[in-house]
Amino acid sequence: MNKFIPIAEPCLNGNELKYVTECIKTGWISSTGSYVIRFEEEFSKFCQATYGIACSNGTTALHLALICLGIGNEDEVIVPIFTFIATANVVTYTGAKPIFVDCRKDTWNIDTEKIEEKIIEKTKAILPVHLYGEPVDMDSILKIAKKYNLYVIEDACESHGAKYNGKMVGTIGNIGCFSFYGNKIITTGEGGMLITNDEKIAEKVKVLRDHGMAKDKKYFHPMIGYNYRMTNLQAAVGVAQLERIDEILQKKKEINNLYNSLLSEIDGIIFQSHNKKSESVCWMYSVLIDEKTAKISRDELIIRLKESGIDSRPFFYPIHIMPPYKSSERFPVAESISKQGISLPSSVNLTPKDIERIVSKIKESIC
Ligand SMILES: Cc1ncc(COP(=O)(O)O)c(C=O)c1O
Repeated sequence: MNKFIPIAEPCLNGNELKYVTECIKTGWISSTGSYVIRFEEEFSKFCQATYGIACSNGTTALHLALICLGIGNEDEVIVPIFTFIATANVVTYTGAKPIFVDCRKDTWNIDTEKIEEKIIEKTKAILPVHLYGEPVDMDSILKIAKKYNLYVIEDACESHGAKYNGKMVGTIGNIGCFSFYGNKIITTGEGGMLITNDEKIAEKVKVLRDHGMAKDKKYFHPMIGYNYRMTNLQAAVGVAQLERIDEILQKKKEINNLYNSLLSEIDGIIFQSHNKKSESVCWMYSVLIDEKTAKISRDELIIRLKESGIDSRPFFYPIHIMPPYKSSERFPVAESISKQGISLPSSVNLTPKDIERIVSKIKESIC
């Protein structure tokens, strides 16, 4: 029997256990502790950002970003229709309305040419998502933001280490947010980080993250805040992961290249294109199973892979087809990509033999 290949598996064989053990032995298991500060400093340095504020997850980092910029009732925020649901939900949490824009056929990221038609007086921000590790065309986003005086919050939850125009994603707009969920490029179990170069934003986010408590007056709360703190235990894992991020990214690149070369010999596969200005990272290797030429559908392929012990996952549903955001507006590109897209196993501990086995099963199934 072939071994089971999971879609994503954290790689925790560095100093993770040592650092977590230290937290337990010393009792520093909550959100006060040296690893939180270290993780914030080291991750923001890795991203070439001035400030990093660790949060309980990527969703809470995004929520704090919006709150901190004063986005709320009556406001609108531009969001891609094709993303993980959290990107839209955080806008809804604030009382503002997510306004959806279709994605591009080639990179699957927000179609920047379709943004301006959605901007009205109430629009306050653009929330682009660097999907699957591929940076959004940020020059166009910044140009539109400047023209209409909008904030830019980058959802970089899937793209640690990716660059656009030589700049790390997350540092191009006003705020960048990352997730460290178990399947992400680096993980803290659950966890997130908000990065920014703006001192005022950083100071306000720190207060909001901690119940709105004044920095210099314990238990005085000048505003309503949240408990969105990261624990020292999580941060200890994060510090250990960060020690190996270059190695992890390199391994991901090798996985990406091997999939590309083996899959390029098969008909019926459509690849994600890359923006010329971007240096993408391979968060989760993803392709489209061309419904016009493949022998079986994406959904059938997922079943066939599962039967032979290979995990995979379908793309996100376009947000407008799900009950909380149901709308009759059409987003043809996202609707088509969503039906055909599949993410393949992408853990750093995959061997070339595993990848060959996955590709040969795909070939046997779709050709
Ligand atoms: C694009 C995107 N945005 C936001 C999130 C939310 O991150 P978290 O799961 O850490 O809350 C994720 C994570 O899965 C994501 O992929």
